[in-house]
Amino acid sequence: MEYKKKILITGGAGFIGSHVVKRFVKNYPEYQIFNLDKLTYAGNLENLREIENESNYTFLKGDIVETEFINKIFEHHQFNGVIHLAAESHVDRSIANPLEFIITNIVGTTTLLNAAKNTWKDNSNDNLFYHISTDEVYGSLGKEGFFTEETAYDPRSPYSASKASSDHLVRAYFHTYKLPVVISNCSNNYGSYHFPEKLIPLTINNIKNNKPIPVYGKGENVRDWLFVEDHARAIDVIFHKGRIGETYNIGGNNEWTNIDLVNLLCKIMDVKLYREAGTSAKLITFVKDRAGHDLRYAIDSSKLQNELGWKPSLQFEEGLEKTVDWYLANEEWLNHVTSGAYQNYYETQYHKR
Ligand code: NAD
Ligand code: TYD
Repeated sequence: MEYKKKILITGGAGFIGSHVVKRFVKNYPEYQIFNLDKLTYAGNLENLREIENESNYTFLKGDIVETEFINKIFEHHQFNGVIHLAAESHVDRSIANPLEFIITNIVGTTTLLNAAKNTWKDNSNDNLFYHISTDEVYGSLGKEGFFTEETAYDPRSPYSASKASSDHLVRAYFHTYKLPVVISNCSNNYGSYHFPEKLIPLTINNIKNNKPIPVYGKGENVRDWLFVEDHARAIDVIFHKGRIGETYNIGGNNEWTNIDLVNLLCKIMDVKLYREAGTSAKLITFVKDRAGHDLRYAIDSSKLQNELGWKPSLQFEEGLEKTVDWYLANEEWLNHVTSGAYQNYYETQYHKR
């Protein structure tokens, strides 16, 4: 079959990437979707079971940093579009080991940009390099105000500094080489298939197992939470309708202090697990604060809402309840992740023939 587009999605075995891959494979049978992923600790092919045998889906195992490999797949497959999500994504890990973030997030992005630039010599209108980024590049807000697309970059963790750097490089390739690019910066995501090192899945998992819930500092830091499928839908809209060279902020308009969020999760979990009200909240344990902990993130997504007609679909309480239900119904996924068994899935799935 002759496909209308060949799209390379990087990091498609991760949390957000797997939602994006599933959305594109299911909604666009006329597109051929390639998922390139190194399968680091955060990459889990079990996230993609429901589409792994679809004829318009291909998994490519590889590292975005490896120039020769990246050039080869661009030359071989002649992708029309790239949706780039592959990254090291956890702030605490970036504090412990910044270099890995520099290598994947900056060098890896540049390797992909070079490959796209060299392949798309006579940029047709059909080509697009879509870079997925974070609101953390804008730094930390006080009690007032929102991040807009015009807010000056002020990254403060090795993670956000590496993402900011990759955003700058994407813009540099647009201005210098006329590479057709678009960027979006999104707030904190939550939902199914979220690796349980991040606040929400970690809290759900610890409550389930009666383990302490670690809240950094006093729990007063604020994040703007967005349901992951709403992010995937925004990516779909921006990929198809976003203006070349533009940046779009994506957010939930949904600010919560960590402690209020954890308390809400405790309440939901008490009901779901038939525990007496107040049982889970007893697990809350205040621990040493994260170094350089950003106080508040909050996104103004009016450009995306007004220009492209996207808006968040779910109320937070509803989305959180759905998320808790998913984790409780998918014990096997969670057990495989916490035991490390998910890392064997590639071997069993792809080397069985
Ligand atoms: P994740 O850590 O769950 O997944 C990252 C994926 O990238 C994994 O599958 C991993 O195996 C893959 N990967 C890592 N290094 C690679 C390399 N060198 N080569 C190829 N693949 C590699 O991350 P996520 O939370 O799904 O985030 C995806 C993207 O969205 C990231 O770019 C992140 O900065 C951005 N983002 C995340 C959030 C959030 O709340 N999680 C919010 C805004 C933006
Ligand atoms: P996280 O999910 O790591 O996302 P990010 O740091 O990218 O916003 O953390 C969300 C918030 O929760 C952040 O303010 C740090 C805090 N946090 C805790 O209080 N305890 C934890 O165990 C973790 C992982 C995070």
